[in-house]
Amino acid sequence: MKRLLLIVSVLLVVSAALAACGGGGDTDELEIYSWWAGDEGPALEALITEYNSMYPDVEVINATVAGGSGVEAKAVLKTRLLGGDPPDTFQVHAGQELIGTWVVADKMEDLTFLYEEQGWFDKYPQGLIDAMSTEDGIWSVPVNIHRSNVMWYIPANLESWGITVPATWDEFLAICPTVMDAGVTPLALGENWTVAHLFESVALANLGVDGWNALWAGEKDWTDADVVATWELFGQILACTNEDAASLSWQQASDMVIDGTAAFNIMGDWANGYFETTKGLEPNVDYAWTASPGTDGVFMALSDSFGLPKDAPNRENVLNWLRLMGSVEGQDIFNPLKGSIAAHFDTDLSKYSVYGQSAADDWGSNTVVGSEAHGMVANETFMSGFADVIEGFLNSGDAAAAAATAQELCVSAGICQ
Ligand code: GAL
Repeated sequence: MKRLLLIVSVLLVVSAALAACGGGGDTDELEIYSWWAGDEGPALEALITEYNSMYPDVEVINATVAGGSGVEAKAVLKTRLLGGDPPDTFQVHAGQELIGTWVVADKMEDLTFLYEEQGWFDKYPQGLIDAMSTEDGIWSVPVNIHRSNVMWYIPANLESWGITVPATWDEFLAICPTVMDAGVTPLALGENWTVAHLFESVALANLGVDGWNALWAGEKDWTDADVVATWELFGQILACTNEDAASLSWQQASDMVIDGTAAFNIMGDWANGYFETTKGLEPNVDYAWTASPGTDGVFMALSDSFGLPKDAPNRENVLNWLRLMGSVEGQDIFNPLKGSIAAHFDTDLSKYSVYGQSAADDWGSNTVVGSEAHGMVANETFMSGFADVIEGFLNSGDAAAAAATAQELCVSAGICQ
């Protein structure tokens, strides 16, 4: 009898210890890794506040590595994932950045069970589901849809300089000297990745939807005449940008539009989050937007998502985070602050400003293509290599050389044959 009691009490102690750890080996922490620091932080912080109220016993570690488009964060993440030290969950773009980088490297857990449990297969657009899936599963949960091809400006400033919004790049190049004569930069630009960001809008305009899609399907070469011509056009556009671009963040380039030292900026609609949430400006009054020249009717999309890396220290806490992030409630907390729209079909658009509502309209009616600069159509190998192609072109202005190097990169990244 004594022996039985001893066994029972040992079992009780062990199960109490397991329960204290969350039952699945979890601690009471959750590390969320992203590049949403500083100005980029409010939307994530609001979602974390909601998580805290739902799971008050979990301490959230909001681990950010600052730097637009995650260039720095992704480098640190790589070291951590390859070194066997994954964060509990991390920001990753839906599409090839996820699939062609971390899924092929076998670093992610399949989330099919979570999608089934939450009924999400019917709640997100099929194209987005496909972008996060392989034959073997679905690998992350989207929190938003961002648009890449947006041009921002201040209507009153354009009026004072006597210019109108250019609908094509030819129109832009035609007004470029007028704007320069007024002592104003026609197009604000920032560091390397913002140049790649501009390039994708120019390429979409010049190649059209079919040409753009063919590039990423490996059905078109970077050395084709129309792609070389795109680099040439890009060179002319770069001549209308600020000389100190390399030292500016995307926020500083946006500031040039706000303070009237630049006429336009082409940036994803996180710039809307910056204008509205950070700067307190009123959309369609203090600033306005349009599709980047030559891309009207096309929505170049990307999606921020979070996944569950294999061996995440706090798996159950991550799953609860993903449940919140993928819910319509979570998405409608996050996106009005972020400048993006919800990926979830049941979103309540009354919670969004006039910008979000117009983006949602376009998302529903435009032709959707994927962004390269933000990982929808290109894997990490291509994206990081493309930074060098851009740097080379900024230095030489040689369109044929840029096209040839991009073609080599496309082959080595496994996109082109
Ligand atoms: C993108 C990301 C956006 C925003 C932007 C600027 O790659 O998808 O959410 O953070 O970078 O940093």
